[in-house]
Amino acid sequence: MIIDKKPIKTPLTPIKSRLFDKYQVNVWVKRDDLNHSTVQGNKWHKLKNNLLQAKKQGKDTIITFGGAYSNHIAATAAAAKAEGFQSIGIIRGDELENEPEKWSNTLTTAFNNGMQFKFISRAAYRQKEDASFLSSLQNQYPSAFIIPEGGSNQYAILGFKDLVKDINEQCPEWTQIYCAVGTGGTLAGLIHFSQILQTQDTFLKPYSIKKILGVPVLKQGEYLALQIQNLLQDSENIKVKKTNNMTDINWKLLTQYHDGGYAKQSAKGKNFQHSFEKEFSILLDPVYTSKMVYAFYDQLKTGKIPKGSNIILLHTGGLQGRKTP
Ligand SMILES: Cc1ncc(COP(=O)(O)O)c(C=O)c1O
Repeated sequence: MIIDKKPIKTPLTPIKSRLFDKYQVNVWVKRDDLNHSTVQGNKWHKLKNNLLQAKKQGKDTIITFGGAYSNHIAATAAAAKAEGFQSIGIIRGDELENEPEKWSNTLTTAFNNGMQFKFISRAAYRQKEDASFLSSLQNQYPSAFIIPEGGSNQYAILGFKDLVKDINEQCPEWTQIYCAVGTGGTLAGLIHFSQILQTQDTFLKPYSIKKILGVPVLKQGEYLALQIQNLLQDSENIKVKKTNNMTDINWKLLTQYHDGGYAKQSAKGKNFQHSFEKEFSILLDPVYTSKMVYAFYDQLKTGKIPKGSNIILLHTGGLQGRKTP
């Protein structure tokens, strides 16, 4: 079950290396990939309140959107099944409709968890946020709760409170968090609650305003800044108690680390992933977390990270995506 379950406080694992010593930084991996076996990492946080809301509204079906390699599709199917919902995945690209033998592991896993698929053309998929498309979908499935692509909406943002609280307790003096970005909901959740929740940051140096760095995993990710701002704006409308004393948070997108685009990985990127996994015995996924960790290393080696920084690499899961079809 997802809805009634208390979140697991996942470990904040310190990682040590000569490189980090050379640049005089401390680095931790927040092992949120360990929070759930099938609704892993950021998916757990994003889906929890969406499913709760669906239950409150008396819905019996969850509809959501994604591509053939979407961790969100796999996680939604698993979470919906666990909570007794039917699920429908609207999948980008109709070429796979009659060729289940070519399905990715993601699609097969979702299908085995009872998700029904509607494959639609790439052109039709682009309408996924249009009001008229969504209202006709809702009319077609009146008992369905519709969750946007990647699960990123105001309910998703609410789900990051526990994660930020954990991080603040485990490392109050953190100075930077690195996080992979697809649709921006995870980053918006982190920013939102980092501003609200206070740390006992007695060791925080005056120069180091806390920073949250998002690493878009797709090309031309600049547009995500507006999407994140809109999500943050939406979260203003939900009832989250704000204090007068908000933490000053700087956030920024580092858009140069997509490594060729969504679900693409260069030979250099692959080698980097393998050597990190070998050095620290922590598995990454090629689509999201590997690019985020690469971005951190590059920022460090190019002198962008001040000495004395306390850096957290957020492991958002996605490990099911490592398996090939
Ligand atoms: C493993 C993993 N990390 C990070 C992200 C990015 O999350 P968001 O879409 O909220 O930006 C995703 C996609 O949802 C993901 O599957």
